[in-house]
Amino acid sequence: MNLRDCHNFHDFRRLAERRLPGPIFNYIDGAADDEVTYRRNTKAFEDCDLVPNVLRGVEQVDLSVEVMGQKLALPVYCSPTALQRLFHHQGERAVAAAAAKYGTMFGVSSLGTVSLEELRKAHDTPQVYQFYFHRDRGLNRAMMQRAKDAGVQVMMLTVDSITGGNRERDLRTGFSIPFRLTLAGMLQFAIKPRWGLEYITHERFKLPQLDEHIDMSGGALSIGRYFTEMLDPSMNWDDVAEMVRSWNGQFCLKGIVSADDARRAAEIGCTGIVISNHGGRQLDGSRASFDQLAEIVDAVGDRIDVLMDGGVQRGSHVLKALSVGAKAVGLGRYYLYPLAAAGQAGVERALGMMRTEIERDMKLMGCTSVSQLSRDNLRFR
Ligand SMILES: Cc1cc2nc3c(=O)[nH]c(=O)nc-3n(C[C@H](O)[C@H](O)[C@H](O)COP(=O)(O)O)c2cc1C
Repeated sequence: MNLRDCHNFHDFRRLAERRLPGPIFNYIDGAADDEVTYRRNTKAFEDCDLVPNVLRGVEQVDLSVEVMGQKLALPVYCSPTALQRLFHHQGERAVAAAAAKYGTMFGVSSLGTVSLEELRKAHDTPQVYQFYFHRDRGLNRAMMQRAKDAGVQVMMLTVDSITGGNRERDLRTGFSIPFRLTLAGMLQFAIKPRWGLEYITHERFKLPQLDEHIDMSGGALSIGRYFTEMLDPSMNWDDVAEMVRSWNGQFCLKGIVSADDARRAAEIGCTGIVISNHGGRQLDGSRASFDQLAEIVDAVGDRIDVLMDGGVQRGSHVLKALSVGAKAVGLGRYYLYPLAAAGQAGVERALGMMRTEIERDMKLMGCTSVSQLSRDNLRFR
């Protein structure tokens, strides 16, 4: 099986599983506890049906949207994810280049493995910088200033990860940064020598968003300890309101699930929110993003941009979310498996497939622009 045999999300997932050592594949593929939310994220789309209109003259379709002041050629963007150079040696460079090719937004994680400055210089398409709230307020200010200096357009504060999720697949394999593999985990690396060869023959692994501020050298601080010791579980709305004021630009909260929180985000001056449960990786049993979308759009959709992510595998999923009222939809594992499978060529193929599916489905729905999609096009079961 190779790239040409990949025609959908599931094909890419299978190819990624073949290429990656088990502990790394399971870090991407896994979620929290019993992975109920993870499964429900995608299932939720099946409880809603599209109702197409025909004979509407749909030769040309415009897929562009505007979110948080950014013009995107596609209504999907690459949501920020950690550690991409572990999945493929090209890492964030591949994802950013593919997103730029398709004219869409790319999220840089504060646990990213390529610096936000390098990525900002390499492409002029919109870039979001995702960060966490640290106990050290000086560190928070320094990280925001650094993003401002780099020319980042949108700040994205992740609010669903004040402590790490219970990822049992990682406990079993011993996956952590730095690696602390179990014997079974080590054996799984041994049977994928090609990954190991690529890993050691490319630039040394680092976390440039953090390295400048926190000593993580030589494994001084693991990512697990970063979450438990450096992040601030006492973070509250006043703290975030102060951040929003000091950023004084496009600012969104990622990881909103309740309509009340969405209202508070609007009140403190956020310009967007992402309805997200972190791909089911944090609070298992949390409601699926798509299930919460209508309620939140009704609560704040006229004041701020409502985005969503979680479980999106098809163009038709994107159409359903847009029809309910999402301004754009974030992709996570949808581009991570292609990255692992084939680097930039993989991500480009996946985004190309997504564009083709959205365009085809828009035509079949009888819509020539995203603004024509509405709840009239949907029925919930
Ligand atoms: C391997 C992996 C790493 C992630 N790293 C981050 C991160 O560093 N920061 C963040 O806010 N979200 C992170 N996420 C969550 C994604 O941004 C996104 O919310 C989620 O993947 C969407 O669900 P999906 O994978 O089903 O599309 C990560 C997700 C995965 C799968």
